[in-house]
Amino acid sequence: MSLGANLFPLCEDMTPEVMAKVDGIIESHRGKPGCLIPVLEQCQGVTGYLPVELQEYIAMGLNIPASTVYGVVTFYSFFSMTPKGRHTIKVCMGTACYVRGIGEVLNRIRSEFKLEVGNVSPDRRFSLESVRCLGACGLAPVIMVGSDTHGGVTPERIIEILNRYE
Ligand code: FES
Repeated sequence: MSLGANLFPLCEDMTPEVMAKVDGIIESHRGKPGCLIPVLEQCQGVTGYLPVELQEYIAMGLNIPASTVYGVVTFYSFFSMTPKGRHTIKVCMGTACYVRGIGEVLNRIRSEFKLEVGNVSPDRRFSLESVRCLGACGLAPVIMVGSDTHGGVTPERIIEILNRYE
């Protein structure tokens, strides 16, 4: 049985099936120099994020200190220690968007989806980020959902737009 099954009660996302894949990734890299970042990338590709418990498991599997794994995960913004939503909403808080009312749009998103900036909605549908400028100021106020850009958004339209994303 995979040792990773022991993580299941700690992290409900780390099912035995997920941990079997993690074991395979660790196994194929163990002992190879410079393997930590590729292992973390591949594991995050499977699990979606790298909670501390999983970092400790990877450290044990690669026989390196957990503090080394933690240092790498927290250094690179590519790695996440918290779950991500299925869709990432980027709300532009740059000047052009701000003066054209993005604040009200953001408030509507927060209340409708019980979602705060930097967090994920309870149903894991959306992650919410605020950014400085999305480079589409002529369309202000602007949000992005995944790779889709939506301009001229209003508190009324935003819910209809977001409900296109399951
Ligand atoms: S300020 Fe929002 S796109 Fe530039």
